[in-house]
Amino acid sequence: MTDSPIDPTTSEAWQALSDLAEGFTPDLRAWFAEDAGRTERYTFQAADLTVDLSKNLLTQEVLPHLLEIARTVDVPGRYRAMISGEHINVTEDRAVLHTALRRPKDGADLEPAAPLTVDGQDVDADVHEVLDKIAGFATSVRDGSWTGVTGKRIETVVNIGIGGSDLGPVMVYEALKPYVQQGLSVRFVSNIDPSDIYEKTADLDPETTLFIVASKTFGTLETLTNARLARQWLWEGLSKAGAIEDADDSRRDAVSKHFVAVSTALDKVEAFGIDPENAFGFWDWVGGRYSVDSAVGTSIAIAIGPDGFADFLAGFHAIDEHMRTAPLESNVPVLMGLLNVWYSNFLGAQSHAVLPYAQYLHRFPAYLQQLTMESNGKSVRWDGSPVVTDTGEVFWGEPGTNGQHAFYQLIHQGTRLIPADFITVANPAHPLQDGDTDVHSLFLANFFAQTKALAFGKTAEEVRAEGTDEAVVPARTFSGNRPTTSILAPALTPSVVGQLIALYEHITFVEGTVWGIDSFDQWGVELGKKLALEVTPAVQGDADALAAQDQSTKSLIAKYLELRG
Ligand code: F6P
Repeated sequence: MTDSPIDPTTSEAWQALSDLAEGFTPDLRAWFAEDAGRTERYTFQAADLTVDLSKNLLTQEVLPHLLEIARTVDVPGRYRAMISGEHINVTEDRAVLHTALRRPKDGADLEPAAPLTVDGQDVDADVHEVLDKIAGFATSVRDGSWTGVTGKRIETVVNIGIGGSDLGPVMVYEALKPYVQQGLSVRFVSNIDPSDIYEKTADLDPETTLFIVASKTFGTLETLTNARLARQWLWEGLSKAGAIEDADDSRRDAVSKHFVAVSTALDKVEAFGIDPENAFGFWDWVGGRYSVDSAVGTSIAIAIGPDGFADFLAGFHAIDEHMRTAPLESNVPVLMGLLNVWYSNFLGAQSHAVLPYAQYLHRFPAYLQQLTMESNGKSVRWDGSPVVTDTGEVFWGEPGTNGQHAFYQLIHQGTRLIPADFITVANPAHPLQDGDTDVHSLFLANFFAQTKALAFGKTAEEVRAEGTDEAVVPARTFSGNRPTTSILAPALTPSVVGQLIALYEHITFVEGTVWGIDSFDQWGVELGKKLALEVTPAVQGDADALAAQDQSTKSLIAKYLELRG
């Protein structure tokens, strides 16, 4: 897979799509009116997810060319290469094996067959050894056999991590709140802004608090700073309560009962003072943004229990299998990835909205921002040559119905094309009634109404027929033809959450493959990290360091120092 990427833009299919895109005049009203089978033809099942693509700007002319592009760049072959452990992360010379994190133990007909050996490592054995260790630890916290240093059971777990070591766990924890064991809760500290850790620990009792320091590299400034602040908070709190003495061994004992770590760098974990026995490992072939199903999910395993965590992983695996086995024509991640290519490379879309109609999924768009944008925000291909197309749409969103009262105006009537994914579940965790009314059905009426309004709009004639003053007819007209995908699951179970994550992982993979980019590196975040270290002395008042800054930065830092006093 170190070969040069295939340039799809020189293919006949790409040319045909460019021709179709020129003067493309979508007409969803007509397309549905003329074709009674449209919904059935464009509705697909992937594990528990029912995915209706029929309200997309998709025709029987467009789709074959999109599928041809997937064949041209060999999406299935590259997926097979990925799950077999080829080093498709070329710029870091690494395998990309997040799919191995959810391969079932002893699966008889796994593909690639078990044991999966990559670069001399028995991946299956190592994954399940760590999973078993996590399950044992999670159980001991849940049943109270793991206690703090004073013998009290743990009530609050605080996960300290950032990026992939935070966004996945916090999103899934929020999504699966109804599954969290009573008497246990998890908080998440990520930002180096000290307000974050201050607020998250202010009302906690150190005797009943467990910190998980999650960092793939165990070198991330934010996480290590917060981990040191947490350790200081723990020592001060325990010492104030008379629970420990200000002696090294007493402090070490406290850390051993109140700190565990998740990392690929177990030597650095030890150097920080955390017993490697209390560490859960993973491997460099798991990217940070693909790591929620590794030991990075330890906080989730504690919150929902090992069985729930196993269901969560099974959900991922079900979609992995769909991705591997479904023909391109009915392969949901492939179709959704190709649609994104259609919108961004041919129809000019620059962003993509993800709109969960499930309040528990309120962090899903934020999670997807890292997954999609850190993966596909690239300007060079995996061989270092410049990209030949635009890449990486801006993913964004908020849960419905909140978004309806905020930014939907622009989606409905603005000048930009914004494809949107609507995600919901049939069965709510809390089927509350408002008098005789089932509130979830009121909620879902909005889900259905919005996708309908976006697709079919409202013509000027329809507006006039309501007796509207002619002067405001244009303002009240809706063009329609605004594309949406509807994803419906039975309920927000651990498995369904795993399925949704895997779906978007593979959509991201499909787009990255079409664009010929390495979706698994993230060199673009390095420069800012390096400059932050270089700028720090200036911000701390070092005159020479300040003088060395560029004009604007120097002036801003000087103003900051003046304001800080
Ligand atoms: O800065 C980006 C990044 O490298 C992400 O890719 C990663 O998820 C995050 O930082 C945190 O890294 P780590 O888990 O090594 O602390």
